Amino acid sequence: MQSTQVRLVSRPVGEPADDDFEIGTADVPELADGQVLLRTVFLSLDPYMRGRMSDAKSYADPVGLGDVMVGATVCEVLESRSDRRAQGDWVLAYTGWQTHAVADARHTRKLDPEQAPPSTALGVLGMPGFTAYGGLLEIGRPQVGETVVVAAAAGPVGSAVGQIAKLKGARAVGIAGGAEKCRLLTEELGFDVAVDHRSDTFRDDLKAATPDGVDVYFENVAGTVGEAVLRRMNTYGRIPVCGLVADYNATEERAGADSAPALMRRILTKSLTVRGFIQDEFVPTHHKAFLEEMTAWVADGSVKYREDVVDGLENAVDAFRGLLTGRNVGKLIVRVGPDAT
Ligand SMILES: NC(=O)c1ccc[n+]([C@@H]2O[C@H](COP(=O)([O-])OP(=O)(O)OC[C@H]3O[C@@H](n4cnc5c(N)ncnc54)[C@H](OP(=O)(O)O)[C@@H]3O)[C@@H](O)[C@H]2O)c1
Repeated sequence: MQSTQVRLVSRPVGEPADDDFEIGTADVPELADGQVLLRTVFLSLDPYMRGRMSDAKSYADPVGLGDVMVGATVCEVLESRSDRRAQGDWVLAYTGWQTHAVADARHTRKLDPEQAPPSTALGVLGMPGFTAYGGLLEIGRPQVGETVVVAAAAGPVGSAVGQIAKLKGARAVGIAGGAEKCRLLTEELGFDVAVDHRSDTFRDDLKAATPDGVDVYFENVAGTVGEAVLRRMNTYGRIPVCGLVADYNATEERAGADSAPALMRRILTKSLTVRGFIQDEFVPTHHKAFLEEMTAWVADGSVKYREDVVDGLENAVDAFRGLLTGRNVGKLIVRVGPDAT
């Protein structure tokens, strides 16, 4: 059997280009004991992948040149040599941008399509939802009546942050690009207010949306948006630093009002708590509770989600470019093969 793969062949400078990747085929290895043969149905596209394309020092190793791009997948088990998984099972795996792969069964998690659509294991019930849950509850600690602000609010992390904040009794203010996303936030996802960061009146709109200041800013984007929200922080505000997507394609360091001394002054004078995190750190303490609570919230409709599904592995690179510029509305997923649920 052959697998069609997207491999990284050069390190992008700025926005990833088509010729930074190649699409090719490779033989799928024979199954050994304990392994499963997987057919990819859905591939998750996530902003962190931009970091893996680069060899700049980071918290995780880069993808090697010539290697298959990494990524979480939802797969069907075609064949199993493990007692843990059976042919026909749906699993969450980490097999990357390819149509077929062999994996150790212990590195997969069985999914129950009766409980939730399998694709949700890549978004609201997967890593992005967990990032929101862990970062907001452990670092942001929203209290009843407080104001929580999050940008990239129509994406899987931001939309979960706003909805969990509401469930905890806080006021949720979402920042997103464009009128369609802002409507989604208030009309479908239950945010109290949405602010369009592409509008010329963004700073004034943010001020009007946060008349009592900001108690929790869940930082997903940084850049000029992050700078504007920082100016609205209340004393003892908390800032879980989750992502900096505004700068993922940057080729040089940003200068200006968000420079270190100005930022430090704001942290000092407002007694802010600023804490970065990588979601993995919360797995031992929060993952079980996340799966139980979030699954129940999704089932009873108190947390809603939106998916943006792109068909075909050959469209993954272009879809990924759109993720960093806001073309996606909701969790960006590539449908790699037929979904038989
Ligand atoms: N720390 C962790 O462990 C962890 C884990 C998962 C994700 N993350 C981070 O969480 C953030 C959100 O991830 P996601 O998967 O939910 O992504 P996402 O929201 O689906 O996609 C990123 C969004 O960022 C927005 N954006 C891009 N450039 C922007 C800019 N200059 N200013 C404001 N917004 C901009 C775009 O939406 P608009 O159209 O609204 O601008 C885009 O849709 C990312 O920074 C990601 O790296 C961190």
